[in-house]
Amino acid sequence: MSGLFITLEGPEGAGKSTNRDYLAERLREQGIDVLLTREPGGTPLAERIRELLLTPSSEVMAADTELLLVFAARAQHLAEVIRPALARGSVVLCDRFTDATYAYQGGGRGLSTARIEQLESFVQGSLRPDLTLVFDLPIEVGLARAAARGRLDRFEQEGRSFFDAVRKTYLERAALAPQRYRILDAGQSLAAVQASLDALLPELVGRCRG
Ligand code: TMP
Repeated sequence: MSGLFITLEGPEGAGKSTNRDYLAERLREQGIDVLLTREPGGTPLAERIRELLLTPSSEVMAADTELLLVFAARAQHLAEVIRPALARGSVVLCDRFTDATYAYQGGGRGLSTARIEQLESFVQGSLRPDLTLVFDLPIEVGLARAAARGRLDRFEQEGRSFFDAVRKTYLERAALAPQRYRILDAGQSLAAVQASLDALLPELVGRCRG
């Protein structure tokens, strides 16, 4: 038996967490076994790595260190949570995954796609998400929402050009593999975004049961 691996992506302030919870609830209402998790994180060790990644520090983190930490957390998450859940036949709904590495470490930090692909194959083997929902919105809207939430984490402190590259990378990746990605307009009201998720639900439920 093999489950379904769905990931949620997008720039800062896209309302992913709220929409993730909403989507999990709608799927569970249909009797689908959903495991909700996030990256970086999802296990105690990976959550400790998340702290290292997100906490601002006076020591500048080298881009390669950041990349390796992201994949170290992912290796633990895959071994402990994601692979066992998929093997049980669960639907795994993961808030960010390797598309975020291409967007943030690749687009944002300028690391090469080839380097990220190497680590992706090393850590994941052939495992890739079955479906990726990209919550897209204008950078200034997302950053204003993130700022309104309070203290900014290490990524949120980056500048406009970093986030322009993040958003551009997500949209480019989605355009290259339209069968895997669905883009949602997250700049709308929450009710409108949830209506878009409702519209996607029959397809999602079909694939979850597939
Ligand atoms: P979030 O869970 O609140 O979206 O925060 C996670 C942050 O980590 C976000 O700024 C994106 C960043 N991140 C990366 O830079 N690379 C990655 O591979 C992942 C999963 C997240």
